[in-house]
Amino acid sequence: MIHQNNSIYIDGVFDIVHSGHFNAIRQAKKLTDYLYVGVNSDEGVTKVKGSPLLDDDERIYLISGCKWANKIIGRLPYTPTIELLDSIGAFYAAHGDDIAIDENGEDCYSEFRKVNRMKVFKRTEGVSTTDLIGRLLSIGLRNAGLESEANIYKPIPSKFLSTGRRLKEFCNDKIPKKGDVIVYIDGVFDVLHPGIINFLEISKSKGDFLYVGIYDNETSRRLYGKDYPILSLQERVFNMLALKYVDDVIIGSPDEINDDMILTLNLSKVLGEESIHEDLMKIGVDPYVSAKKRGIFELVKASYKINNDFLIDRVMKRKDEFTCKYIKKHEKEEIYYKEQKVVINEI
Ligand code: CTP
Repeated sequence: MIHQNNSIYIDGVFDIVHSGHFNAIRQAKKLTDYLYVGVNSDEGVTKVKGSPLLDDDERIYLISGCKWANKIIGRLPYTPTIELLDSIGAFYAAHGDDIAIDENGEDCYSEFRKVNRMKVFKRTEGVSTTDLIGRLLSIGLRNAGLESEANIYKPIPSKFLSTGRRLKEFCNDKIPKKGDVIVYIDGVFDVLHPGIINFLEISKSKGDFLYVGIYDNETSRRLYGKDYPILSLQERVFNMLALKYVDDVIIGSPDEINDDMILTLNLSKVLGEESIHEDLMKIGVDPYVSAKKRGIFELVKASYKINNDFLIDRVMKRKDEFTCKYIKKHEKEEIYYKEQKVVINEI
């Protein structure tokens, strides 16, 4: 296949995709006009890192929401080869400045470095899949009454830096056009899972411009309990802004969409997800009273479960394996933070 001039291939496991992954894809996109995003197969990942929490289809679906990817290719080997890139039409491979090791302990990208077909960008500090699995495990263990085990996962202060520049890079800088159907949804939008992506996809299909109201940490705790949100408001904002369905966000939105808000944002529709709406009504919270009175409220149903429980159930089924991984990764991370030198800057 002919290479599209400066095309780049970035791959990853993208298990519970997070703002570090999105920042990686964003940086890779800055280096090219055409970005291929490869999602490593369950089989390939299992040989090197153990089986991921989310399966092939789920990880592909999550990454398919990313706005910087031109083409997503799933079920690819953990270690890419030059033949693979040639066959899909990509010239460069890209990876963060952390080293990815294959099943033989070798650098996965050595072939590309030798022939100058490698692009490296700055890894995003303070956010990782292992850390997120730790946060899910700590909730699961507490729910199961295993308080002392849960204490292994001490709340780690988020090291993810939400600088103004980063925020600007993630933003769309868009406003609705005249005549646009403007849609509003709101919620916690915690750890990303297929239910959230599906809800966003459905919501965007109901209009032209989608605003996503993201509850602040205090509101999330009040509605869902002291363990929530799992992600900080900043992490949730970055996740939402990385998704192609989202046009703009309200950072720390109220859980009551009042008339002022409807008029200020010129909302044409306010949507609620069926199961979330039901849960909120059970605790006596209805954010949609004004929208209902105005006849602009609509219920939609996501075809995947929309809560975190299935993620928590999954990590709990493999709790010993994940605990081992968590402890090892944290030891490595501590060393990384102590020894890190800025070699390249974020782009
Ligand atoms: N990446 C990054 N910042 C992070 C995590 C990942 O820049 N905090 C980059 C990696 O350098 C790689 C891509 O994202 O280029 C895909 O990473 P992936 O294989 O999914 O995972 P890990 O590097 O193991 O990330 P994690 O620690 O979150 O599992």
